[in-house]
Amino acid sequence: MTTVTGRTTPAQAGSADDDGHRTLAANPLREGLRLERMPEPCTMVIIGATGDLTERKLAPALYNLMLGGFLPAEFTVVGFARRDLSDEAFREHLHNSIDHYSRNKPVKRSIWESFSRGIEYQRGEFHDTEAWHALAKRLDRIDRDRGTAGNRLFYLAVPPVLHAEIVRQLGAAGLAASGEHRPSGGRGWSRVIVEKPFGFDLASARQLTREIREVFDEQQIYRIDHYLGKETVQNLAVFRFGNGLFEPIWNRRYIDSVQITVAETVGIEGRGEFYDQTGALRDIVQNHALQLLAIFAMEPPVEFKASDLRDEKVKVLRGVKPMTPSEVAEATVRGQYVSGWVEGERVGAYRDEPEVAPDSERETYVALRLAIQSWRWAGVPFYLRTGKALAARATEIAVQFKAAPLALFERAGAQPMEPNILAIRVQPDEGILLRFGAKVPGPGLQIRGVNMDFRYGSSFAVDSPDAYETLLLDAMIGDASLFTRDDEVERAWQILDPILNAWSSGAGGPLHFYGAGTWGPPAADELLERDGRSWRRP
Ligand SMILES: NC(=O)c1ccc[n+]([C@@H]2O[C@H](COP(=O)([O-])OP(=O)(O)OC[C@H]3O[C@@H](n4cnc5c(N)ncnc54)[C@H](OP(=O)(O)O)[C@@H]3O)[C@@H](O)[C@H]2O)c1
Repeated sequence: MTTVTGRTTPAQAGSADDDGHRTLAANPLREGLRLERMPEPCTMVIIGATGDLTERKLAPALYNLMLGGFLPAEFTVVGFARRDLSDEAFREHLHNSIDHYSRNKPVKRSIWESFSRGIEYQRGEFHDTEAWHALAKRLDRIDRDRGTAGNRLFYLAVPPVLHAEIVRQLGAAGLAASGEHRPSGGRGWSRVIVEKPFGFDLASARQLTREIREVFDEQQIYRIDHYLGKETVQNLAVFRFGNGLFEPIWNRRYIDSVQITVAETVGIEGRGEFYDQTGALRDIVQNHALQLLAIFAMEPPVEFKASDLRDEKVKVLRGVKPMTPSEVAEATVRGQYVSGWVEGERVGAYRDEPEVAPDSERETYVALRLAIQSWRWAGVPFYLRTGKALAARATEIAVQFKAAPLALFERAGAQPMEPNILAIRVQPDEGILLRFGAKVPGPGLQIRGVNMDFRYGSSFAVDSPDAYETLLLDAMIGDASLFTRDDEVERAWQILDPILNAWSSGAGGPLHFYGAGTWGPPAADELLERDGRSWRRP
């Protein structure tokens, strides 16, 4: 359908010098875009550098940024973890990770040689103050040797129980302060990237924020939700505010309802202990689903910059009224999978997973109806659902438009028409689909739903960067637009705490069971049927 000219991606922008580093001057296309600047020379310290996240996501993302010419030659990585590794062994570990998980393979030798010259490893236990002082010394030495100018990005690639201790140690070692606030004076910035989950409930989220804020200012904190780095999510703003066509109909006059789906086919993948304490509401709704809702529903920002975007997102969340216990029973459905078949494979029941309580009440599925109390959205229901071991993997926002005011063709004998749908596919197969009625060729008056379908994969000749590539680069540049601010996190918990409380007190309705490989419990279908609607099958 579309012939949109592509935004520059890491793979496209810039012209490369001999080392594969691209220069901005040679690339007028990047000027004026959000990704207009090459990061300053800096060191990224990965705390938890031998873990799963580093292996699957961070190492490949950094390599791909290097490959695309997006990192300065001075860029340096320091891995910090407790395993006893030499610099060389750590380099090899990252090389293997990239070889396994990168979207660009095999590893290009010339790029790797230049990248690996800037990779080091600092061994240490998080509780060991000496290790942090050794890290600080190492970073000073790197600044001198590699010209990284005191700029440091700390990535907390560790489970959240460790965040408070690490942040305290960073503060005590004088690593948190930026520029003139550093104990030794000096220059450069310090930023910290924090992985979700951002707390377990409102109280623990506030506590975590307090602990981090004792050491870092809010402007230094980058709370990462990788969904926001996905092209389709960023494109939502372009779609709405860059085109004249859609914004006028983006409101209660034309939109009947909105469905946000985050469906996974995988189960809990051996993470029984984590998941049985967490569940779908905390794991997905608190961050990904509410962020999608906020970006979808926000007012146009005054400027396309971090503070304005985040002001608008938090306004949406403030418009979502927290539920009373009886509203929880009426407007939420929680489910848990029992055994079944997903994509031809037998999947056991959630309660039979290792480290899951045999009588666990933890939800692996949730469906909600939320209302946004705002001039734009009053009366428009927002249905959110997410689940594990479902029939298909799909994340999408589907907008259902109101019917035409007069059923002209039905009066002439045609079948009732399907509603018009705009589906924004976040993953997989990123793109946007518009579904509307068209006359079936022939003498009678038959109308059928047809699709206009824009696909990133076929409209642009380049791969989309992985979300971590986009977000790491943004953090190095200092653009926090796609990161979550403390007030957004807090408001999300204010919306979800009453639901969690009502469920645990028994006032919020029962736990429903669904077979693995289905679309969730029948009660979730009934939630929409009561409103005269049905879930879309992505
Ligand atoms: N895995 C993913 O794909 C993924 C995706 C999205 C978000 N996340 C989030 O990313 C975060 C990290 O997850 P992960 O799966 O990468 O964790 P992980 O595999 O458990 O890795 C933990 C890392 O921390 C180090 N570590 C733990 N305790 C330590 C201590 N006391 N002293 C020094 N080092 C210590 C480990 O070092 P050793 O190995 O040397 O012991 C390891 O490098 C979590 O918040 C998770 O929710 C993960």
